Amino acid sequence: MPPGPTAPFFDLSAQHAALRDELLAALARVVDSSRFILGEEVEALEREVAQVVGVEHAIGVSSGTDALLASLMALGTGPGDEVVTTPLSFVATASVIARLGARPVFADVERGSLCLDPARAAEVVRGATRAILPVHLFGRCVDVTAYAALGVPVVEDAAQALGASLEGVSAGARGALGCFSFFPTKNVGALGDAGMVVTADARLARITRELRSQGQRARHHAAVIGGNFRLDALQAAALRVKLPHLGAWTEARRRNARAYRALLEQAGVATSLEDASRGHGVALPDEGPGVHAFHQLVVRVARRDELQRALSAAGVATEVYYPRPLHLHDAFASLGHREGDFPEAEAACREGLALPIFPELPLAAIAATCRAIAAFFGR
Ligand SMILES: Cc1ncc(COP(=O)(O)O)c(C=O)c1O
Repeated sequence: MPPGPTAPFFDLSAQHAALRDELLAALARVVDSSRFILGEEVEALEREVAQVVGVEHAIGVSSGTDALLASLMALGTGPGDEVVTTPLSFVATASVIARLGARPVFADVERGSLCLDPARAAEVVRGATRAILPVHLFGRCVDVTAYAALGVPVVEDAAQALGASLEGVSAGARGALGCFSFFPTKNVGALGDAGMVVTADARLARITRELRSQGQRARHHAAVIGGNFRLDALQAAALRVKLPHLGAWTEARRRNARAYRALLEQAGVATSLEDASRGHGVALPDEGPGVHAFHQLVVRVARRDELQRALSAAGVATEVYYPRPLHLHDAFASLGHREGDFPEAEAACREGLALPIFPELPLAAIAATCRAIAAFFGR
């Protein structure tokens, strides 16, 4: 075994060493204020996120999951409704739909982008469809206008896509509502759970604010049934330290993605999706037309598990996002899906392997990873 990982999958230590004093000062400010829930820090973060994303309203919430839940609630989603979404995502994307008594209706993803295919989504949109919930998967910015054209509100799952944009419009900014996660491993991570809903619609913003505080319009007057989706001030203060670095961190992720491409091409193992599926090398994700935030760099490779083991033996940590498409989780068994229903998502689950890409990852670690991949293919 090598002495330590040549390439850890994710490591916050360099980021936090650089920001430690600022983070501790921000936390001390909150402790001294004795204001821990919502309040000035949260309001300031909301203004700053609204500005970064380019929307009128931002509502701080307790997690990305609660951002999705509150957004669907704000649209009035409930029993009898359907929400069209992708089978290739983190489980929260679909579970929030089911938690409201609505039905997740999956449509397969596009082969190249791995995001919800607008044409397939169009085939399942009908009268009962309350919303469409596309995911900017792995930080690739999808074209929201393609879903909006289907005539139902779009809730953007931009949990992985802070910093991504298309034609100058940020992920999360085009739909009726956009949802971000600040889970610690996200491109901007809190020191715990945190999330944000953004919207240009003043009415939806007001309802979402009510929903996050037990549906209260005024103190002790619940206008609607809500929940406790509030963001705490410690998380907001920490996020305010990190948010100004979003641009540099996104650029570092994109630089890392370019380095992988250059080195794997140089080694002669970068290939097309079709050839990768046939076992002839790895296919790198294309950036798409916009600014890809590269939350993850997921390559496609036929003998995925074998490559993962070989990389692990070489000290390179990788992850599988995702090993199982949502329609094949036990939790969604009542929807009656079978293997084969969404072949593109299923193939992505068989062949996808996420390589380390966090901003502080040294170029030497990327080079070592590429050498190990090349060696796997006998190059
Ligand atoms: C695509 C996607 N949606 C939703 C979530 C849920 O966010 P959180 O973990 O902050 O609840 C995540 C994050 O894990 C995610 O990756």
